[in-house]
Amino acid sequence: MGATSTPVCRLVVLISGRGSNMQTIVDTVRAQALPAEICAVIANKADAAGLAWAREQGIPVQAVPHRDYATREAFDAALAVAIDACQPDYVLLAGFMRVLTPGFVEHFNGKLINIHPSLLPAFPGLHTHQQALAMGVQWHGCTLHFVTPVLDHGPIIAQGMVPVLSGDTPDDLAERVLQVEHCLYANVVRWLAEGLVSLDAMQRVQVRGVASRSFVLTPQGVEPSQR
Ligand code: GRF
Repeated sequence: MGATSTPVCRLVVLISGRGSNMQTIVDTVRAQALPAEICAVIANKADAAGLAWAREQGIPVQAVPHRDYATREAFDAALAVAIDACQPDYVLLAGFMRVLTPGFVEHFNGKLINIHPSLLPAFPGLHTHQQALAMGVQWHGCTLHFVTPVLDHGPIIAQGMVPVLSGDTPDDLAERVLQVEHCLYANVVRWLAEGLVSLDAMQRVQVRGVASRSFVLTPQGVEPSQR
């Protein structure tokens, strides 16, 4: 490697199920030839569909089934060992449906990134699309953020918005939000790989050279929102 080449950004992706966000991350790294390597895809369920997909892609995969561990702390400790073996720069939670212990979050401080299907700080936790419909919000969406010990909370890297339409069901909204989730991860994985993302003294995210970190679903697809 030449002295000026960009260092490769080592990524571990955590999933629990289908893994469509993980697929977007993998596809983006490959299609854009980003200076990044997916070192492992790890799931907390051995039968997670996304694990099979990643294995077929030739990506190292591992299952750390949470049911094998008596306590949350014991599971998180085993998960941390599996992740540490990869020496990642970032750990991307992509539909990873486990609440993480403060010790785990501290261990990976500044490296853990999560996608949450709401416009945080609105609607943390589960069933976000039902929550949005029950509240009558007119805009809903998703948030990519650094993880802190507080559930679904932390410095926001990017957000994506979708309109809530009359007659929407939770499934309608989930489908619409998922399109924006994929767009967010595609952009953010590039920013991470290119070393553009940092936290300032106030623990707010800065992305060098990127003015707008918000996206919106339009009839033409997902676009950066105009500022
Ligand atoms: C996504 O909507 C994610 O935000 C939520 O669960 C879903 C996972 O989808 N937490 P996938 O596994 O990435 O397809």
